[in-house]
Order: sequence, then C-alpha cells, then structure tokens
Amino acid sequence: MTDAARLGDRIAQLARIGGSGTSVSRLGLTALEEQARALVSSWCEPHAASRRRDEAGNLFVRFAGEKTDAPALLVGSHIDSVPDGGRFDGALGVCCAAEALVSLKEAGARFARPVELVAWADEEGARFGIGLFGSAAVFGKLPPNAAERRDKADISIAEALRALGGSGDPTKAKRDPKEFSAYLELHIEQGPRLERAGVALGVVSDIVGIYHGRVTVLGRQDHAGATVMGARKDALVAASELIRSLELIAALIPDAVGTVGEIAVRPGAKNVVPGECTFSLDIRAPKQGSIDDVLDAFNDAVADIGGRRGVDVSIERLQTVAVTPLDAGIRDVLVRATKAVGVEAPLLVSGAGHDAQNPSLSGVPTGMIFVRSTGGSHTPTEFAATADAAVGTDALARAIEELAAS
Ligand code: GLV
Ligand code: MN
Ligand code: MN
Repeated sequence: MTDAARLGDRIAQLARIGGSGTSVSRLGLTALEEQARALVSSWCEPHAASRRRDEAGNLFVRFAGEKTDAPALLVGSHIDSVPDGGRFDGALGVCCAAEALVSLKEAGARFARPVELVAWADEEGARFGIGLFGSAAVFGKLPPNAAERRDKADISIAEALRALGGSGDPTKAKRDPKEFSAYLELHIEQGPRLERAGVALGVVSDIVGIYHGRVTVLGRQDHAGATVMGARKDALVAASELIRSLELIAALIPDAVGTVGEIAVRPGAKNVVPGECTFSLDIRAPKQGSIDDVLDAFNDAVADIGGRRGVDVSIERLQTVAVTPLDAGIRDVLVRATKAVGVEAPLLVSGAGHDAQNPSLSGVPTGMIFVRSTGGSHTPTEFAATADAAVGTDALARAIEELAAS
C-alpha cells in the first residue's frame, strides 16, 4: 500500500532540484539531472540489488527476482524537464515507480523475475534537440551521429556525457530488447480529459507519431532604413507566413497538431532586414497518414511563399517517432489493476510523446497509466494531486506484482 505522505514528500524533494517555486528547469544531461538520479537511487538503496548509470545517462535500479536470468520487468519514466517546466512531467512516473517498488519490498513482496526501475535521461530533447534520448539509446534508436549534436552553449552530447563521468558514446547504452519482459510507465495526462471525466486514472491505448524538423529561410540581409519595402527579401516575414500556414494546415486535418516553438533570426538587430530565419517544426497525429498530409501541404506552402517572396526555404528532418499502439495484453493488466483500486479508467490516446514508444516499437510489451493532471503541461502551472498519484501508484504496484510473478 502506497505511503501517500512519503510519496508527496519525495515529489517535492525532486522538484527542488532545478526548481524555483512551482517552476522546474532540469535539462537533460546536466549536473541537476545527475543530482536527481542520485536522489532517486538513494530512495531505492535499502532494497536494490544493483544501481547504475549507463552511457546515455539513464539510471537503472535492479530489484532481484528468484529467476536471476529471466528478462526483467522495466518500470519508470524520465527525470529531465523542459526549461521553466512543471514538477510532474516525467518526475511523477519516476517517484511513483520508486514508491511502488519500495512499498512492495517493505511489505515483503518477492518477485519471480527481476524488476528494474529506470529514470530515463533527456526525454524532452530540450537541450540537444533529440527527444526520448535515453530510451532511444537503450533501444538502438538514436539518430545518426547523435553524440555530435550541440546545445546553445556549443557543448556536444559527447562532452556532456563525459562531464558526467561516461565515455561520451551513448550508443554503448544499447541493450537487447529481449532483456525485458515488459515496460510500464506512469505519467501525468498533460491534458484535460481525465479532469473533465472526473476520473483519477486512465490507461493509454496508443501514442501519437511525431515529426521534428528545422526550417531554414534564406532571404537577403539589408538596411532597414534604406531598403524600400518593394525591394526586400525579408526572411523573418516569409517565416511568419510559413508559421501561420502550418497553423491553418494542422487545424484542417483531424487530430493533427503542428507547433513552432523555437525561432532564431539572423543577424538579429532592429535596424537590419533579417537575412536568415530558422524555426522548429513539431507535427503529431495518431495516424502516420495525417502527419504526411500536414507535411505535404506545408511543402506546398513552402513552394508558394518561397516563390512569391524570393527566399530559399529548406526543411531538415531531425527526428521521427512512429505512431505507437501499446500492447493489448498489458493494457488488460492495467485496466484490471486500476479497477482493483476502485477506478474505471478510460482508454486514452496520448498526444505527448513518451519513452514508452521506444520499448514498444522494439517489440517489448508496453503499457502506460495516466494520472489526472490540471493546469496544462510544460508549464509551472502543471499539477497532479498526491491523492491521485497515490492511487496510480497502488495500481502500478498491482500491475508490477502480476507481471513479475512468473
Ligand atoms: C514530450 O513531452 C513531448 O511530447 O514532446
Ligand atoms: Mn514526459
Ligand atoms: Mn514533456
């Protein structure tokens, strides 16, 4: 049975690492993320058979099973945040997984197979632009030359990993998916459906596919006073039209979403017509066909707007994650577990990306529990009540017991 007071206290302890008020900035592969791993590891210490950080910065804590060599049940979530994010995205799943395992052990539970808690590194990709980084490394799904990607301070992933004490090669974190019997992740919902339905927990049926890209618009840098309006090739104004067209396109395609969250203008002075503008693309949908439709229409907009404004536009694909249906058998286990703790959990499609996609797409039976959250997500107003987290932890513990029992 979950110790709700301890769980609430641990959520607060973790939030203080990189936290200020309700805002948390704990970016991937930083010293703060490392401090968070050490804290979670210390909670598990009395019951753990082993604790280690791998070459991609992931924390694995192993709880022994009677069949030492049997594939392990993997349970966890991520421990990084976006800049100025909230206290619960990822962190809640790590706190609840640790609480479920520790409380099971305190109650004398014995597992037939090993259970591993994982705190994935750099899920958000906010620093280096590679989302689901730690789980992608473990399941061999990193983009080519990932270690060379650089953050805004010009530090590469390899350098960041070396600063944490590793070799700098995240591909060394790869494990055989056959090492795992299943993967479970508890996460806040990050949207309003559970709140509107008045239900504490949901079970995830599918996770959207994701396309991440970067658009570069090349115009002509010029004098802001001397260049008459008809003689300009303003890269920023062309980019503005493209960004607006993405919004219009995504709104027309059911269940698709399109977002530009980063933009840079060069040279970036108020008296210079911008010569170059780069911006990010984040396109998601529960069907790959819908993502393709958004991209096709956006490419048409590029040809039209680029041609009309005399600017060159190129699109670079940075990362894609396939639409991910989760395992039906694990879903049934989670539906039973949530029922057993008194919740009729609805099945939900996740619009957020999750580390669960990497094991699932590698053939590891995977399931997710959503905990009701309010106040949005990727913002300091993000909130989940400890009582909901505790009931989610009870359900998670039941699912762990069932899946680790044979
Ligand atoms: C992670 O939160 C994502 O969905 O981008
Ligand atoms: Mn998350
Ligand atoms: Mn997130």
